[in-house]
Amino acid sequence: MSSKFDLIITHADVVTASDRFTCDIGIRAGKIAALGHDLGSATETVDATGLLVLPGGVDAHCHLDQPMGFGLRMADDFRSGSRSAACGGTTTIIPFAAQAKGQSLRAAVEDYHQRAQGQSAVDYAFHLIVSDPTQHVLDVELPELISEGYTSFKVYMTYDDLKLNDRQILDVLDVARRTGALVMVHAESTDCIAWLTQRLDAAGHTAPKYHAAARPELVEREATHRAITFAELVDVPILIVHVSGQEAIEQIRWAQGRGQKIFAETCPQYLYLTAEDLDQDGYEGAKCVCSPPPRDAQNQEAVWRALAGNVFSVFSSDHAPFSYEDPQGKKLNGKEQKFQHIPNGIPGLETRLPLLFSGGVVGGRINIHQFVALTSTQPAKLYGLYPRKGSIMVGADADLVLWDPAREVTIRNERLHHNVDYTPYEGTTVRGWPMMTFSRGRLISKDFGFVGTEGAGEFMPCGKPIGSI
Ligand code: URP
Ligand code: ZN
Ligand code: ZN
Repeated sequence: MSSKFDLIITHADVVTASDRFTCDIGIRAGKIAALGHDLGSATETVDATGLLVLPGGVDAHCHLDQPMGFGLRMADDFRSGSRSAACGGTTTIIPFAAQAKGQSLRAAVEDYHQRAQGQSAVDYAFHLIVSDPTQHVLDVELPELISEGYTSFKVYMTYDDLKLNDRQILDVLDVARRTGALVMVHAESTDCIAWLTQRLDAAGHTAPKYHAAARPELVEREATHRAITFAELVDVPILIVHVSGQEAIEQIRWAQGRGQKIFAETCPQYLYLTAEDLDQDGYEGAKCVCSPPPRDAQNQEAVWRALAGNVFSVFSSDHAPFSYEDPQGKKLNGKEQKFQHIPNGIPGLETRLPLLFSGGVVGGRINIHQFVALTSTQPAKLYGLYPRKGSIMVGADADLVLWDPAREVTIRNERLHHNVDYTPYEGTTVRGWPMMTFSRGRLISKDFGFVGTEGAGEFMPCGKPIGSI
């Protein structure tokens, strides 16, 4: 007689964003087919005694194999990035199909599909980056792409090659209002940064630590307020990405308190790093250069409080992989760069869940349901992948993580699976680690090792964001 299930996970201590219960999980054809007891026969059984069973992580902000220009190249493509995601308990990734200025958005999406095709070990969707909102992009390409499942897009208020002016941002927000898409905003004031950068440079202040001085909190606060004001004017929800500290949080809280639908995301670097990490011997600080920059201990606590208080909906890695010793990375052209030319971004796909679990759940700052909500359920909802992703329920994809809440791990880059030559969290000890990760019922990581198949991950068109979470 053939088995009823392909796999049964027994004695599962299931934790979702809202519930905790013990059951067996029956999996058939990549889907959760039953939650219950005495489920009958299965081709394979895994005993989860002593482990939590969580929905697979959804990393809704990561950069992989993104075309860069300026001689830069990301260290991770879909192959190495998805491998690292799998080993960190993440089963869905949403990187960015980035439009270069002068390029059609459609061409950017097609190019990005080529880069992903047959590479990823986990399922993936795309956000768009809109850097050139021509009339054709606004009237034709964007609405068409949204209807095809690219329902979220990022706009930048800084970076010369990507930034939009205020009028352009309003135009893009208006498309989102008409179509029900979600705009993600990188909120930093470009002219303030340029002005400060010029003065620092003129004074000979070019070391990595001055990256933080060129992008103080007020630069983020002002742009966050401006983006919120634009969202109010157009009457559309937005999501502020990678929020770094108190001043931006105050703006977001203020808007949320007035009833505006302002969603927000933060990332591990704003909980574990400070501007002092940019002030290391020699050029080492370049390893922690990202934007907005990490702040200080008080701001870390402000971010923790805002996580606990549900100001944030999403906790993402903002994995932006540039190797330290790479002439296409942090040492562009083989040279130590002035701070303003250091490629922005740090790696973090694999360490996202353990860092939040350890500092948050073990540290008593957030509860386990908030942890699941921030890392899986809410990003799945906001980006239109729920209920296929983001929960443990009958009919959902069997994306599951068997999580050891007591496992102590000291993070070492040599044990991670990305292609970056460092981690900013080297030597940090965390409690809690994913011991097994399943993607649609297939085991893809086990005991710190990758056992998945590159290319088995599927592209998923996204539905309309569920804005009411
Ligand atoms: O420094 C960062 N965050 N780099 C990645 C690109 C972005 O702005 O998210
Ligand atoms: Zn950004
Ligand atoms: Zn980013």
